Amino acid sequence: MDSLTRVVADEQETRQLAERLATFLLPGDTLCLKGDLGAGKTTFTRYLTAALGATSPVSSPTFTLIHEYQGGRLPIYHVDAYRLRGADDAVGTGIEDYFFRNDGVVMLEWSERIEEILPLNRLELALEEINPPGESRRITITARGSRWLALVKQWLEHPDSC
Ligand SMILES: Nc1ncnc2c1ncn2[C@@H]1O[C@H](COP(=O)(O)OP(=O)(O)O)[C@@H](O)[C@H]1O
Ligand SMILES: [Mg+2]
Repeated sequence: MDSLTRVVADEQETRQLAERLATFLLPGDTLCLKGDLGAGKTTFTRYLTAALGATSPVSSPTFTLIHEYQGGRLPIYHVDAYRLRGADDAVGTGIEDYFFRNDGVVMLEWSERIEEILPLNRLELALEEINPPGESRRITITARGSRWLALVKQWLEHPDSC
């Protein structure tokens, strides 16, 4: 099994999950955030960035493809692929360079738009509203590649640890 599902009751619990995940992050990690508009991808990124200690707030980068946040334990590269029509569209934007920098964490919203160019090792978080417009969300966490398998396995065996 390389995937687990968590239900968070409210935004506070989303924050707790982001804070927990932040403690495991290493330079070169890629987190892919999937889900419809309003599911909470930017919100999750904001909490994770804060947990890593970056001082600047994360705004939605919908109109800017890549935002960098420095000043924390690791730099964060927040990418929003919403406006890309596909992987071909990503060529020339510089997104791929971030996958190979290996010095920070890439947080990628709408990763499904550019599936073909994603790094092999990545953690996917799919967010779904359960009772819109309520605060509960189903979050499905999937390990892609060996980097994340052990962690997801540990979370499956010890749900309290995530
Ligand atoms: N459990 C939750 N997790 C994340 N966001 C939540 C939650 N409950 C309510 N929200 C709200 O839902 C909205 C999510 O918006 P946003 O993070 O911009 O979504 P996306 O980036 O997926 O389009 C925010 O207004 C946020 O405050
Ligand atoms: Mg967003």
